[in-house]
Amino acid sequence: MTGTEAPTWARTSQAAARAGRELRKRYTAADLSVFSPEEARRFVPQGAGDPQTNVTLAWELLYRLEPELYDRLASAEHLHPGVVASLPQDVDRIAEVGAGTGRLTLELIDRARRVVAVEPALPLRRILRRKLTAADNGDRVSVMHGFFDRLPLPDDFADLVVACSAFTPAAEHGGEGGLAEMERVCRPGGCVAIIWPNHLEWLVTRGYQYVSFPGAMSVEFGSYPEAVELAGIFFPDAADKVRRLGRRDVPFQVLGINPPRDLAFKVLAA
Ligand SMILES: C[S@@+](CC[C@H](N)C(=O)[O-])C[C@H]1O[C@@H](n2cnc3c(N)ncnc32)[C@H](O)[C@@H]1O
Repeated sequence: MTGTEAPTWARTSQAAARAGRELRKRYTAADLSVFSPEEARRFVPQGAGDPQTNVTLAWELLYRLEPELYDRLASAEHLHPGVVASLPQDVDRIAEVGAGTGRLTLELIDRARRVVAVEPALPLRRILRRKLTAADNGDRVSVMHGFFDRLPLPDDFADLVVACSAFTPAAEHGGEGGLAEMERVCRPGGCVAIIWPNHLEWLVTRGYQYVSFPGAMSVEFGSYPEAVELAGIFFPDAADKVRRLGRRDVPFQVLGINPPRDLAFKVLAA
């Protein structure tokens, strides 16, 4: 996510570049005061910014000001089962970065003896902890504060280090420093994985392989009224089509976004 570019799920085309317009209207520059000094250093490095024109900032404000709204969207966008199935399993330790409200984290619980979920936004960590409390074996997961560029984990810590819809080449959302950090905490012979990558060539030039899983995929909103409501906020260009469709499940294609079917990964030298 650079400048006014939309995050992974709100991207792919000119239509998607406009997709943040309703989200951007929800916040103003005054809302930037919600950022901690550490967050402000990363997300508003010049000391000022305007979420009305910068959709990246608007997403960061969404995580902090309306985390439940964000969670309703993320909960509807299920990962392709092939993506999850192809991650290492029965390993000792997994580290996830930018865990959000746990879309991937909950899938990781039974793949490792210990999972560390790193997430900078406090309101999202709270929701994630709530879900883990209710989940079988949720106590295998430790939730920690941290950022891509400074992971609170030792060298060679995990067998799998993974980010889902969170890493981008932009410094504030990973970048060179963040990728180096993910590789630092991954043990030799372990795997670093980026799910739903938005700049594939960037990762390929850094030694990452790529796999995409086929098949029709839909966003599964909780109900038809929720589909209409959330489309109006997150996919305004598709809102009329969603209304006409009359269903709670809406093909990603209709919303104009690429489905979460892609995985970039690198197995580190042993
Ligand atoms: C689109 S959400 C994805 C959350 C979750 N991984 C999922 O798939 O539902 C992006 C996440 O990246 C986190 N994030 C943003 N900047 C970050 C950074 N510099 N370091 C680590 N995480 C970051 C956000 O707080 C948010 O939880």
